[in-house]
Amino acid sequence: MNEILKKIQKIGIVPVVVLESAKDAVPLAKALIEGGLPCAEVTFRTAAARDSIKAISEAYPDMLIGAGTVLTTDQVDQAVEAGASFIVSPGLNPSIVKYCTEKDIPIVPGATNPSDIEVAISFGLDVVKFFPAEASGGLNMIKALAGPYVGMKFMPTGGINENNLKSYLDFPKIVACGGSWMVSPELIKMGKFDEIRTLTNKAMMQ
Ligand code: 3PG
Repeated sequence: MNEILKKIQKIGIVPVVVLESAKDAVPLAKALIEGGLPCAEVTFRTAAARDSIKAISEAYPDMLIGAGTVLTTDQVDQAVEAGASFIVSPGLNPSIVKYCTEKDIPIVPGATNPSDIEVAISFGLDVVKFFPAEASGGLNMIKALAGPYVGMKFMPTGGINENNLKSYLDFPKIVACGGSWMVSPELIKMGKFDEIRTLTNKAMMQ
């Protein structure tokens, strides 16, 4: 497994962040760090993604910042230029995976079925995002997929929260869980960074 993914594995949780305004990026990163979670996946679902990644990586150079919901190679370039050290996508887009692997940029594409996992393997990947996790069969499905694909590890995301986090993390083929339950867009919009810190800390205590 790549060094960045090993760091993600040590941390165990990847908060999936949607930032409407880059001005919230640094206070959010501070709350995550203070909650014990020096990692974030900033999604390209908003126009603020690139500037948010840049602001966080400048303020906290040691924080592990990735870009999520990456759908184009142009977004890969923007993310990496801004300071992202890994790329996440909801599905498996071969042209994006190829672009990243050729440039040695760690990428975790979404895969929830055998065919996508085999495409990921053909690119030399050993970790995929299992998304949307709960809707795609959850832990049972991951266990079923882990049977034949012995070298594959999973980062489930989608429908994970403080109630089911531990059951996922207890399965050894799971590198980390992604989720937005401690960084919901509503909390960010309302500037409730204390609550984000508390929820983060609670998640990290599991
Ligand atoms: C994602 O894109 O990874 C999801 O939106 C995160 O899922 P969640 O909001 O159910 O945690």
